[in-house]
Amino acid sequence: MTWVPVAKVGDVRAGDVVAVTVEGTEMVLGLDGDRYFAMQRRCVHRGGDLAEGIVSRGHVVCANHGWRFSTATGCHDTASDVCLVTFGVRVVGDQIEIDPTPRKS
Ligand code: FES
Repeated sequence: MTWVPVAKVGDVRAGDVVAVTVEGTEMVLGLDGDRYFAMQRRCVHRGGDLAEGIVSRGHVVCANHGWRFSTATGCHDTASDVCLVTFGVRVVGDQIEIDPTPRKS
């Protein structure tokens, strides 16, 4: 497990989804309420950029066709076997860190 600093607390506001690259892997970092999450940047539907999506009711909503993925599990809201790869996020002091080891595929 390798924790990589990606942003400062305050750089990401509640509801934000921002693009980050960690050790060559493109991801999105978001803040759902008071919980940070990280997942693969490209939507599993047709490759939409989830950095253009929004956070709504515990889900990231893809801007392209509206597929909704849980910010907790990365899985589609009605097809639980359709999931994005997710990554661990932690806060150390004022630093947000991501572990680029995939949690789910
Ligand atoms: S590309 Fe994301 S819902 Fe279609």
